[in-house]
Amino acid sequence: MWGGRFAEGPAAVMREINASIGFDKRLWRQDIAASKVHVAMLAAQGIVDQADADAIEEGLDRIADDYEADGVPEDASLEDIHMHVEARLAELIGPAAGRLHTARSRNDQVATDFRLWVRDAIDEAGAGIAALQRALVSRAAEHAGTVMPGFTHLQAAQPVTLGHHLMAYYEMLRRDRSRFADARARLNESPLGSAALAGTGFPVDREATALALGFDRPTANSLDAVSDRDFALDYLMSATQCALHLSRLAEELILWASQPFGFVQLSDAWSTGSSIMPQKRNPDAAELTRGHSGRILGAMASLCVTMKGLPLAYSKDMQDDKQPVFDAHDLLGLCLAAMTGMIESAAFQSERMRALAAAGHATATDLADWLVREAGVPFREAHHITGRAVKLADKAGVALWELTIDQLRSVDERIGPAVFDVLSPDASVKSRTSYGGTAPARVRERIAAARKELGISG
Ligand code: ARG
Repeated sequence: MWGGRFAEGPAAVMREINASIGFDKRLWRQDIAASKVHVAMLAAQGIVDQADADAIEEGLDRIADDYEADGVPEDASLEDIHMHVEARLAELIGPAAGRLHTARSRNDQVATDFRLWVRDAIDEAGAGIAALQRALVSRAAEHAGTVMPGFTHLQAAQPVTLGHHLMAYYEMLRRDRSRFADARARLNESPLGSAALAGTGFPVDREATALALGFDRPTANSLDAVSDRDFALDYLMSATQCALHLSRLAEELILWASQPFGFVQLSDAWSTGSSIMPQKRNPDAAELTRGHSGRILGAMASLCVTMKGLPLAYSKDMQDDKQPVFDAHDLLGLCLAAMTGMIESAAFQSERMRALAAAGHATATDLADWLVREAGVPFREAHHITGRAVKLADKAGVALWELTIDQLRSVDERIGPAVFDVLSPDASVKSRTSYGGTAPARVRERIAAARKELGISG
């Protein structure tokens, strides 16, 4: 394609290091779509004959049909997907194929194709996240009143509800969707017509090609347009943040499925056995989701490093933009689907959660708050009194709320029998009615709002 000034062909290793067809063949649909739009514009602007443009469009359609049926045949000497399509077009329609590359370069071509691909990847991520959100909301609705221990420092802190805990992940995923949506809005400008770096002297209509490809407008600076990969980085950063959330959820499932916790049993479909220990049910998919998040973050870091030292405009380093994005996309899709399956089918062990919510004096703060509210004790003093009550309970080997009123009164006379209304885990969660708090009534309100956000009726 560019051999006019060369006397010799490339060295074998040159060919190998230069070739991207092995991975950029995934851009074939976008490449053909953008080429069709480009040639239609060239004809409309009188830059190529209508007859040639028709032949090119028909040829491109045939290539698309063949690729759809048989995949993209790879030829390393043709470097990348753009040259594969063009070479095949020449075989099909002859010299007219050479007119397709008028007023464009592979630089604006690849920037356009890749934006289109990433735009679809963003839409897929959004749908995958929404599916997981639906699973979380539906399980949260079942467990809006299921009491479990809430942790800080992984130490039992205060009772919460499982519904509230699951909805915490709903909120994280809501931010992830919004990040992907922001990335999409920024991405949606068309580089096509920026040509190699400087624009073109042909009377192209960039507005028309932009709109035909579903972009909002053409990009405003040709140098920026061919060398900008912010859209890929935005995608990878959004994917990374989402993967970190999935990893935290995976970690919880792994902990919860362990025997000392016993909060959840994963379904058979989402567990694996051990070849040596017959009793085992391992949460491999959760572990792999936790592990894959590292690879997604790695993909993001890799493209950051690729881009950081590049002067304007295009450099071949940028050919390395695709694999990290493809990898992150494939891994994120798998992780989202796996987490959705696991959450949908998990058997949460409500009795076990309730038992542990009652252990560890998790309602100590409720006693302190009660002293402040009902007896006018300053919080710091109430904290101290409660500490003494905890000590007494430990000594007696009972939970705080299992102390008798006389025992409690021996710690501080101001404690009255009404304190038992807040000391049980159920009473404790019920009392946390502040906006965003764990009270079942609050959690149900948030679930109703989430259903609206997700477009679920009822
Ligand atoms: N395969 C190349 C890439 O992905 C296409 C652009 C090549 N441009 C060039 N000037 N050699 O980056």
